[in-house]
Amino acid sequence: MTNSLLIGPDALPALANWLRQPAVSQVFVLADATTARQCYPLLKPHLPETHHVIEIPAGEEYKTLSSCECVWNSLTEHRADRFAVLVNLGGGVVTDLGGFSAAVYKRGIRFAQVPTTLLAQVDASIGGKTGIDFRHFKNQLGVFQEPAAVFIDPQFLATLDPRQLKSGYAEVVKHWLIADAAAFNEQRHQGLFVEDWTPVIRESVAAKQQVVAADPLESGPRKVLNFGHTVGHALESYLLALAGREILHGEAVAAGMVCESWISAQRGLLTDTELDRIETFLFSVFDKIQFVSLEADAIAELALQDKKNAGSTINCTLLQGIGNAIFDQPVTVAEIAAALRYYHRL
Ligand code: GLY
Repeated sequence: MTNSLLIGPDALPALANWLRQPAVSQVFVLADATTARQCYPLLKPHLPETHHVIEIPAGEEYKTLSSCECVWNSLTEHRADRFAVLVNLGGGVVTDLGGFSAAVYKRGIRFAQVPTTLLAQVDASIGGKTGIDFRHFKNQLGVFQEPAAVFIDPQFLATLDPRQLKSGYAEVVKHWLIADAAAFNEQRHQGLFVEDWTPVIRESVAAKQQVVAADPLESGPRKVLNFGHTVGHALESYLLALAGREILHGEAVAAGMVCESWISAQRGLLTDTELDRIETFLFSVFDKIQFVSLEADAIAELALQDKKNAGSTINCTLLQGIGNAIFDQPVTVAEIAAALRYYHRL
């Protein structure tokens, strides 16, 4: 597990303290073009006077080996030794790529995650998954490596486009649905009108950490974190790659959670009332994804390509009541297509 985790307005002063350890030889900061402009000025007062900034272009299309080379070039040029620390300042692309680059440089240097999007704060920076895309396959190369520390400051959320904030919120809702019925019941009414994100992020991170602690390398129970993602990834791939339509990850996951809740209800695992509660809430926050009913089969076919599947079986996470998920539930392409048609009719 991560050695230090700090969530709240004290996170950056805590990072400053952490970096003052005698065992830190040099400090490197990885940012993308957006976080270099919007977030680095907030971080800079908490960094040692001498540090090196490595900047990569912003966007998933730069989650590549050549961006890693940019990190390794800088570390090598500045003669970073094994006591150097890489501070990853950004969303999931930066925290995943920075984590991977640090994990393999000289067989591993320490890295700290300073996630700046809600998605990275509650999901990507937690649980030790690092990686990059390769030949258009998402997260094709990567290692499990826990960061030495994670510092989550909700002030960065003010830098986000409201659509990005909402996209990250889908993962908060996912954590409620798979592991925290009480939070779903108590907190969903405020929706995105959250005055203080610190307790929401704390609870969400705690829910994810509990799942990860039981299965850090995802051999079984960690798969519950994929709730909403079987259909969500299929929708994302279809709309982005085949239809050229823009969709954010969390928007696809929100639609995926409706579809996978419907499959759960069809199997008697969720009551109609629970399904209605989930749908009503998700549609109160997320716009409906537009596709035509005829596309449902083509989208469902893409679910077969998910790397979490074994052979031709689609393994899905379903809900057995709100707050309780079950993984490795075999579902068919036809069931997924039917769920998409149901979603389309709503
Ligand atoms: N985002 C899912 C996981 O960390 O396992």
